[in-house]
Amino acid sequence: MNRPTKARNGRIATLISTGLLATALGGPALANPCAPRNPCAPRAANPCAAKNPCAAKNPCAAKNPCAAKNPCAAGAGIDPKDIVRPAGYTPYRGNRASLVAEGERLFKDASLSTNGMSCNTCHVGNNAYQATFAKPYPHKVAMATSDVGLNQIHLDEMVQLCMVKPMAAKPLPWKSKELGALVAYVEEVQKGFKPTAAANPCAAKNPCAAKNPCAAKNPCAAKNPCAAKNPCAAKAANPCAVKK
Ligand code: HEC
Repeated sequence: MNRPTKARNGRIATLISTGLLATALGGPALANPCAPRNPCAPRAANPCAAKNPCAAKNPCAAKNPCAAKNPCAAGAGIDPKDIVRPAGYTPYRGNRASLVAEGERLFKDASLSTNGMSCNTCHVGNNAYQATFAKPYPHKVAMATSDVGLNQIHLDEMVQLCMVKPMAAKPLPWKSKELGALVAYVEEVQKGFKPTAAANPCAAKNPCAAKNPCAAKNPCAAKNPCAAKNPCAAKAANPCAVKK
């Protein structure tokens, strides 16, 4: 890498400090950190899984042209009732500081999922958040539109969506302290979120992202200046990397 900008250095430092990059660049035993955690992977019917072992971590998944055929995407059995606030719902209230602290703990707790992931697995270092995350809730989130048909979503509903889909778990009880705590913690994270320094450090530099974020079918993949930073790209096990 020649003469990285200060901003870029900052993002790389974030990646390295989170251990994500370090893990990605680890030995063969860690060949593909995404594959075993991909909630779609075991589904033989998923035509995308074979081509993109990182699908679950792909923040562009909602725009993936394979999504229509992907059993984990639209119509994948996500019941809007699990996601949308129930009638008469009042958010959990409690001491703010202790809720934030509890939320931070839960965010890193893999026992909330059925697939070994925690929220932090995907969102460490603000990873996987799109620019929409910077806007006040409710707002439009691509995954909520593609998977549940919602034009906008509240933060507590977004937590439920990530519980149900990527975490492959049941939604949290609406009145629970757990939901209140995760919401409080994510609200704090959101305050420090800047869309340009987002989650996906490649997005801003990827000339194709807006048009075709689906790596396997991305005609610009070979020209993608972010490839080297993709924690999955350097993996022999990643068929997307081989095509580069
Ligand atoms: C397998 C990866 C994965 C896991 C695990 C995961 N998420 Fe997400 N999450 C995503 C992706 C991908 C998006 C981006 C969706 C979009 O913008 O279309 C997202 C988006 C979000 C957003 C922000 C959407 C916005 O733009 O406003 C929140 C908040 C969120 N997740 C919270 C959570 C919480 C809380 C957990 C744990 C209960 C969790 N996520 C677990 C992948 C994951």
